[in-house]
Amino acid sequence: MRAQFPLTAFNNIETPFYYYDMDLLRETLATALREAAKYENFHVHYAIKANFNARILAAVHEQGIGADCVSGGEVRAALAAGIPSEKVVFAGVGKTDREIAEALDANIFCFNVESVPEAMAIEALAAERGRVAQVAIRVNPNVGAHTHANITTGLAENKFGVNYEQLDEVIDCIEACGHLKLIGLHFHIGSQILVMDDFIALCGRVNELQTLLRESRGIVLPHINVGGGLGIRYDEPDEHDVPDFALYFATYAKHLHLQKGQHLHFELGRSLVGQCGTLITRVTYVKRGTCKQFAIVDAGMNDLVRPAMYGAYHKIENLSSEGPCEVYDVVGPVCESSDVFCKDMELPHTVRGDIFAIRSAGAYGEAMAFGYNCRALPKAYFSDTI
Ligand code: LLP
Repeated sequence: MRAQFPLTAFNNIETPFYYYDMDLLRETLATALREAAKYENFHVHYAIKANFNARILAAVHEQGIGADCVSGGEVRAALAAGIPSEKVVFAGVGKTDREIAEALDANIFCFNVESVPEAMAIEALAAERGRVAQVAIRVNPNVGAHTHANITTGLAENKFGVNYEQLDEVIDCIEACGHLKLIGLHFHIGSQILVMDDFIALCGRVNELQTLLRESRGIVLPHINVGGGLGIRYDEPDEHDVPDFALYFATYAKHLHLQKGQHLHFELGRSLVGQCGTLITRVTYVKRGTCKQFAIVDAGMNDLVRPAMYGAYHKIENLSSEGPCEVYDVVGPVCESSDVFCKDMELPHTVRGDIFAIRSAGAYGEAMAFGYNCRALPKAYFSDTI
């Protein structure tokens, strides 16, 4: 359905800002949960890194979804939103002692451990507290994903996870620790994945590994976590406002062979919040260069870094004009040549003061904003309170 934006309200708000369609957010979260619930023992966690806005987290909590965190700050944000600690998992290659201690004190469900030194650090801090920490090993499955190089994580060359050759060593280490309990295996191959074959490849690896562990060590762990990665359609946000969760979960149900009683966990970020967010910005100037026409907007790469950082495409709409189309480069005011949202985009005839909607910006938009050039961080408005 074509997105509806309250343009009159927008005209009275200082730009740039993020606008969240809360109905779409709720529908997306509910659809994901409903589709996952069709299978026994499927659990959905929300990857907070995609968007930690308190209203978004409140909506996630309302639906009873758990949290996947990658820093002490994210663990705190999850708990502050009311997400129960037994639904919080904590991943990341560089957890500091302070972050581990805080998560232990909060009694979170599971640490996704990525190395022997990290396991030793958790063991020491858990021992000091007379506690036993539940841990899963993050395995690097060496599966490439058809996505941008900066957001693939499951290749042997990436810093993430434990490689197959080191797996025995890490299991031995955890088993020798009195304050660690190995409860699962964790995987994540990358982000913005729209090709189910990539997830099928991951399922193959998980199956292989489960057989290997069962045959060589007699181990069957109760929890398998396959991370996140389901992509969204940046090219057609209206036609695909809710991602195809049915196909996604059915793919795992068919290809991942769970052992009896095993639980399967997902850490979805982008697919849950990507389409509900839009960056709203105003055209400051239209400038004619020698061979280009620029629409210079008041949002910059500091507000939405994805185009500059990954060459990512976000659909842009002029909400104020329906005039005949012309070709523009849409650029921000930041002093960097990479501060470009889109090159050679066809847009209706644009003038100073027009309002643009930069679509599909709910994930890794506001969460990655920064203050370069002494620019203020973007504010957020919500469809139910605007
Ligand atoms: N689990 C782990 C271990 C992850 O590293 C990530 C994302 C997720 C889950 C959630 O993945 P998602 O479902 O959102 O694909 N800033 C980049 C994306 C970075 C993703 C980092 N890890 C972007 O804007 O495209």
